[in-house]
Amino acid sequence: MKVAVLANLKEDAPVSPDDPPGRWDDLDERLTIDTILESMREIGYEAKYFPADLRSFEELKEFNPDIVFNSSEGHYGESREAQMPAVLDLLRIPYTCAGVLGMSLSHNKHIAKQMFRYAGLPTANFFVMSSMSELDGLGLKFPMFVKPASEGSSIGINEKAIVYDRGELEYQASMILNTIHSKVLVEEYIEGREFTIGILGNEVLPIVEIISPTGFYDREQKEDLHSEVYRICPADLPVEKTHELQQIALKAKKILNLEDVCRMDLRMDREGNPYILEVNPIPLMHPDPEQASLVYASRAAGFTYTDIVRKIIESALSRLDSVTC
Ligand SMILES: Nc1ncnc2c1ncn2[C@@H]1O[C@H](COP(=O)(O)OP(=O)(O)OP(=O)(O)O)[C@@H](O)[C@H]1O
Ligand SMILES: [Mg+2]
Repeated sequence: MKVAVLANLKEDAPVSPDDPPGRWDDLDERLTIDTILESMREIGYEAKYFPADLRSFEELKEFNPDIVFNSSEGHYGESREAQMPAVLDLLRIPYTCAGVLGMSLSHNKHIAKQMFRYAGLPTANFFVMSSMSELDGLGLKFPMFVKPASEGSSIGINEKAIVYDRGELEYQASMILNTIHSKVLVEEYIEGREFTIGILGNEVLPIVEIISPTGFYDREQKEDLHSEVYRICPADLPVEKTHELQQIALKAKKILNLEDVCRMDLRMDREGNPYILEVNPIPLMHPDPEQASLVYASRAAGFTYTDIVRKIIESALSRLDSVTC
């Protein structure tokens, strides 16, 4: 079987002096793609990497893959993760992970949160703003948490993301509008423990707890391999709570139309009430489990890196089979 791996590598990012810190943190390192290719060869697939941009498509058609392993985040646009799925749909090449709809819903956290509300899934109270004039008339309680509505890897989330009064809120919101050029998502701050839950195929993985000395997981901590943030898996939770959180993750995956693999971030307040923060439709697959929670959780479940790759592809293939039936 032939598999094309489509990704946007960090080393190819269109870096500009105006970029905010960490602008391209959610793109893949070459090491990740090399490890995915190596795993595919171990399984017995003929595997080849293609940069996820329009220039690759003639070569991709020539390679004629049975399936694309999609890890492309895109560079521009409000639903950049949905761009390659759209092109692959046009070319009628099947691919792993969510389609256009699932990628667009989850990339825009405020839309995903509206979907969670609609489905009765818990998420923090919030509002979204695209200009400073929309700051008036807010019904949320301080402290609040301010972040870009449509980015990943904690881009735009710094040590001032928790705001305690109107002045701090204005400062942080205008920083995001002016430097990230994204809508601003303002949420009530959920004080408590933080978890992330991976789903591989239809199987929900053991829960990872993320422990950060600052109370939240900001961009600098994600970049700093020696930061004091650490993970525990399986998280120390009662069986019923584990089950409850895992069920929330499965329902969130379904309501957002995600496929094959995803990772949900959530927090639990002091009373034990869970709140979904967001769902990642293409979770980081860095081979170092300390950097990639999905890999960390998979290891706790007894899966190797190659198992992860195999399970993602098998999940996508089984969807194709059911379409043709
Ligand atoms: N409402 C909130 N209350 C408390 N902490 C929050 C809240 N929203 C976000 N955080 C903190 O900020 C971190 C990043 O937020 P979030 O997961 O929404 O962003 P991200 O940049 O998309 O992350 P990822 O790297 O997972 O793609 C969370 O892991 C959490 O520590
Ligand atoms: Mg997150």
